[in-house]
Amino acid sequence: MARAQSRYVCQSCAEAFLRWEGQCRNCGAWNSLVETLIREPSKGARTSAARTAALAIRAGQAPEALARVTDVDLPRLGVGLPELDRVLGGGLVPGSVVLVGGEPGIGKSTLLLQAAAGVAAFGTVLYASGEESAAQVRLRATRLGLTDGPAGRAVRVVAESSIDRIVDLATSERPNLLIVDSIQTATVDDLDGAAGSVGQVRESALRLMELAKGSGSGSGSGGPAGRAGAIAVVLVGHVTKDGSLAGPKTLEHLVDAVIGLEGERFATLRLLRATKNRFGSTEEVGVLEMGEHGLTALGDPARAFLAEHEGGAPGSVVAPTLEGSRPLLVEVQALTASTAYGTPRRTASGIDQNRLALLVAVLGRRAGIGLGSHDVYANLAGGLVLDEPALDLPLAIALASSFRDRPVPPGTVAIGEVGLLGELRSVSGLERRLREAARLGFSRAIVPRASRGGQTPVIDGLDVVAVATLREALERALA
Ligand code: TYD
Ligand code: MG
Repeated sequence: MARAQSRYVCQSCAEAFLRWEGQCRNCGAWNSLVETLIREPSKGARTSAARTAALAIRAGQAPEALARVTDVDLPRLGVGLPELDRVLGGGLVPGSVVLVGGEPGIGKSTLLLQAAAGVAAFGTVLYASGEESAAQVRLRATRLGLTDGPAGRAVRVVAESSIDRIVDLATSERPNLLIVDSIQTATVDDLDGAAGSVGQVRESALRLMELAKGSGSGSGSGGPAGRAGAIAVVLVGHVTKDGSLAGPKTLEHLVDAVIGLEGERFATLRLLRATKNRFGSTEEVGVLEMGEHGLTALGDPARAFLAEHEGGAPGSVVAPTLEGSRPLLVEVQALTASTAYGTPRRTASGIDQNRLALLVAVLGRRAGIGLGSHDVYANLAGGLVLDEPALDLPLAIALASSFRDRPVPPGTVAIGEVGLLGELRSVSGLERRLREAARLGFSRAIVPRASRGGQTPVIDGLDVVAVATLREALERALA
């Protein structure tokens, strides 16, 4: 068979070139050329985007009034890990493609091997690893205690990075679930680029999508729901330092769901979060703990991110955060120290750096906490990463507490967004957050005063202190 032709296509102006160059000669964009296969447009061919978008639409169906459209109950493959199933929206959808992203060493292969074992309870799995040999995968499975169960037989492992081989294997074996670990090691023969290049990553993902979407019985009509025996595909993707999935954003648009595995490599807590999900909410988070026998769910995830010390240390306060429908209590920690020389440092981990800089400015101008000649460090306990504006107030309190070297009394939680004028803004789901705080034994909460006719929630056992400004909040928190 003749080798397919490839061109280098500019991602910003779509001009095609025969050779790779650093700058597009047409539009001048830098590093925008991506090796792309030239496909013969077949009869009725659609762009991949349109093909994916058409996933839930049955071919040849007449439009229906919105009110009359019936809910489709998508079949789901439960993966046996309730936290992962929760983030997926109830399990994997046959015929869908899910990308699981995370930093190297965070536990992606572990998570997916466990998911494979879960599916093995009722189906079959093909695990294609381009990163480890079959023996290494087996070693890990043994360590996880999975080799003796149904997984020992129903999970088939192959060390393979050629996508064409993997697709052939999957087409003949017809597993319920295909895992490709990782998309960065995958290559198609038709492209010259190295594994991990944008062109290779994208073409590999496209072929696996074709496999998933076309994998059911029947001839191309019907969404995944209508396809008996459709293959669910899970791709592993390494996240680069700056937090983006390598093989740039293109992958995220192609797949049906993007699930991130987050956490600190040397800490044990892991957070699962969907950043995109065509078959479920992107609000839900899963909390897992990496232990000797892999990833396990926690008995009480709400308290997982509380640091383990007996309160009373300056520079710390607990924030009742809300991730989707799940309340998590998180310890916010800050440290301020006089700057030895040069420009003061502002270092944030788990929190937006700009938000920290802004709070430092507001604290100086509106609350008399001048940190102009202080280094400032702030982080969330347990390696959690959150971008909730409601973390402003706890962060500001932690900073002030460290600066004044005065602890926040134990049993206190704080939540609220801080405006540039030092005013506090209300937060969503306040009652849920406070109920959870009360359940975990907290006795006092500092919250923004309800605005425009709203009411401050009354919670049994919790002294809810409603304040209007940052200055007032600091007075009450550090009294
Ligand atoms: P791994 O799943 O290989 O990460 P990734 O595929 O994202 O690169 O996980 C690697 C780490 O997890 C490694 O440092 C060892 C640790 N680990 C455990 O702590 N417990 C276990 O049961 C397993 C299998 C791994
Ligand atoms: Mg791995």
